[in-house]
Order: sequence, then structure tokens, then C-alpha cells
Amino acid sequence: MSLTTEPARAEFGYDPFSPEVMADPLPFYRHLREHQPIYYMPEYDMFALSRFDDVMEMLSVTDGTFVPTDGTLPDPGALRRHNNGTVIAPTTAEPLPPYSMFGPPVHEILRQAHVGPLRAGAVRRLADFIREQANERLDLLLPRGRFDLTQHYGGIVAAAVQCHLFRIPLSEAKYLLDTVNAGSLTDEDPQSERSLNRYRPLVELVEGIVRQRRKQGADGTFPLVDGLLTLELDGRKLNNTEIAQTLIVVIIGGSETVPKVVAHGLWELQRHPDQMAAVRADLKTNVPIAFKEMVRLCGPAQWFARTVQRPTSIGGQAMNTGQRVIFLIPSAARDEREYGPDSEEFRWNREIKRWVNFAWGNQFCTGYHLALLEGGILVEEFLRRVPEFEVQEADAVRLPSFFQWGWNELPVTVPVED
Ligand code: HEM
Repeated sequence: MSLTTEPARAEFGYDPFSPEVMADPLPFYRHLREHQPIYYMPEYDMFALSRFDDVMEMLSVTDGTFVPTDGTLPDPGALRRHNNGTVIAPTTAEPLPPYSMFGPPVHEILRQAHVGPLRAGAVRRLADFIREQANERLDLLLPRGRFDLTQHYGGIVAAAVQCHLFRIPLSEAKYLLDTVNAGSLTDEDPQSERSLNRYRPLVELVEGIVRQRRKQGADGTFPLVDGLLTLELDGRKLNNTEIAQTLIVVIIGGSETVPKVVAHGLWELQRHPDQMAAVRADLKTNVPIAFKEMVRLCGPAQWFARTVQRPTSIGGQAMNTGQRVIFLIPSAARDEREYGPDSEEFRWNREIKRWVNFAWGNQFCTGYHLALLEGGILVEEFLRRVPEFEVQEADAVRLPSFFQWGWNELPVTVPVED
């Protein structure tokens, strides 16, 4: 089957874990949007939503009808075990499952307990730090003439921001980034020991931070951790591992997406010299606009899952208790019905009235403000400091993945001054 053209209807099959889909999902999404927008996979008792309106309809239901009780990224083994009409809601008893598996109100309680430093006002205060980090990286990288835009530029800066938030020495930024990246790699066997424990090193790192903070005493001055240390959930405090498991989502979300969007987005500008010139004409005004289009088209996260908690319907499709639904973000983000006939193209000043790239509703990305600020600064400083650059396409790496399908490595060359 050709990977660049839409698969023929008769032979079509979509499985998010199949090697063909993990290598290039876009032709599959095109087909799904056009012919089978709500696609049922009997093996997993799961629907895939590929059109913008259906995704938005589902995410707008916030009453607990759709809750990720099987996890937001369940592995195929878990999905093959069907719920057969019954769902077992997670309880707050020790050990607490990952917080994303809860619906309202527990999910919201855990979210509010740590989200303070990610709110708009708090994030704005990080602007100078991020700009400083971006420039320090560029001071180091530009004289080399060639470097990796994803990992060496945005990756390290994004990880440094997480170090700053979590009071980890900045010298650990590379370790943090490597740990997140290793966790996000998709094994050929998603149920291998490595795959199932892929974020263990990160949990251990954050457990250490929580343990130390507990000893120091939580006085509210380290809100990311203190809020969860002081929280009483159904009459009990959380242990260090439970708090760490809640917080690693911030580090993962904060380290892996923005760098890929920035690197890919800069490449799009390089490929469209007229758009590059237009953005460069007024970086301060234009970069925030262009960065939204970069998020829309270059976001690497493919899908997240929900489990149906009570009989319902989406887009006219009946769904029963226990069935799963995944929403295909890059497909919805390319839906011609929402973004027009050139929806698969990069257009820096596209008017984006609505988007699902940060999800919507209960699980709306808590890193939204940071993502826009950080991404904007990374793009702006790069364009300000680098008058010309060329992405080395032949050496670019985009690893197969059911989840984070984005440019893992994007080497770039820049002219070096004598
Ligand atoms: C362009 C960058 C980003 C994109 C496109 C993005 C996208 C998303 C999406 C789609 C979700 C929803 C997952 C679901 O519905 O199950 C999400 C959740 C989340 N994101 Fe982001 N994200 C980005 C950056 C960040 C950053 C910078 C952080 C950290 C500061 C972050 C932290 C989180 C967290 C903690 C959640 C879970 C929220 C919850 O369940 O309450 N993200 N993100």
C-alpha cells in the first residue's frame, strides 16, 4: 500500500498500532475523514473520530460520560480486553492510579492542586528566563554551523524550563530530555517490559524531589509540589509515588511537544520563502500568529483515548458503556470542513477560530499558556538571530510511533561567520 496516497477503499483498514499507520498516519486520516469518519475497530471495541466536529462534540461533554478509565494511551493488550458493558471507575484508595484516569470531580481536584504555576499570569513571569535560555543555546549552537533543531535547541530549552519549575539544576536539562524521549519511544512490542515501565526513571526522579520537599515542609512556596503534598483526598494524604505520577505528566507534556512543533514549524517557513519574509517583517506581531498554525499542523500527538461510562452517541453513532473512543488530533486539525480546502497546507496567518490541538473540556492541556509563550519565544529568537538556515532533510529523523509522531531530529545548517 502506498504511504503517500490515500489507501483504496476496499483494502482499507485502520489500526493505530499497525506499522503502516505508525510510519505515516496522514493518508489513513485522509481516508477516514472522507469515508469512515467514525471508524469502529472490533478488536479493541473502539471508535476512532477523525473529523473536527465529532472530536469537538465528544470533548465538549464534560459530565463524566467520557473518562479515560482505561488510560489516555492504552496499549493494545489492554484494549483487547473488552469491558463488555461494565466499567470499573478508579478509586482514590492507595495506590492512586494515574490522575488522568479519573473523571470529575477527582481529576479536577488533583489538577487544581498543582496547576497554579502553569496559569497565564505565572507563566508570563517566565518569559525573560525562557528568552535567556533560548539565547544561551543559540550562542552555543550557531558557531557550530550545524545542529539538531529539535533536541539541541527547543528540546534543551523546554527541558530547562521544566528544571526551573521543578527546582532541578539546569545542568540536568539534557538528562531530563533524554529520559522523557526514551519514555516516549514506541517499542515494536508495546507490551514489552520496557514499554510498560517506560516512564519509571522519570517517576523516580520526581519522587526524589517530593521526598525532599516533604522533609523541608510544604509551605506553599513550591506550589507545583506543595499543593499535592497538602491535599487531602477522601480523608488521606498522597504518598510520594502518587504525587510523582501526577507530576510527571507536566514534565512529559512540557518537554516533548513544543520542540517538535518549533523545529517542524521553522522548516515550514524555510520551505515557503514568501511566508518567511512576511513573518520576518514584524516578528513580535507575526510569530504568535504563525506559532498557532505551527501547533495546528506540526503537533506530534496522534490521539488520546476515553472510555464510555454510560450509553451515549457522537455524530449520530451510538456508543455503549465500556466501549473506547480515540480522537485523532492531526486528522481533526486537518479537517477541510473546519479549515478549508488548503487545510493540509501551512499558511502562517490562517484564521484559526477553533482548535482541538490542546484538547478541550476536562482534560484541556494545562501547559497551554506555557506552550504558546515558550514556542513563540523559541521561534522569534531563532528568526531574530539566524538570517538564513537550511534543514537537512536527508538526515531528518521521524520515528514510527502510535503516539508522538513528529520530527525527533531535524538537523539544520546555518552560515558560520569567520
Ligand atoms: C504545543 C504544545 C502542546 C500540545 C499540542 C499539547 C497538547 C495536549 C493535549 C492534546 C492534551 C490532552 C490529553 C487528553 O485529552 O487526554 C494535553 C494534556 C496535558 N498537557 Fe499538553 N500540550 C502541549 C504542551 C504542554 C506543555 C508545555 C505542558 C507542561 C507545562 C503540557 C502539559 C500537559 C498536561 C499536564 C496535560 C494533562 C492535563 C490533564 O489531564 O489535566 N502540555 N496536552
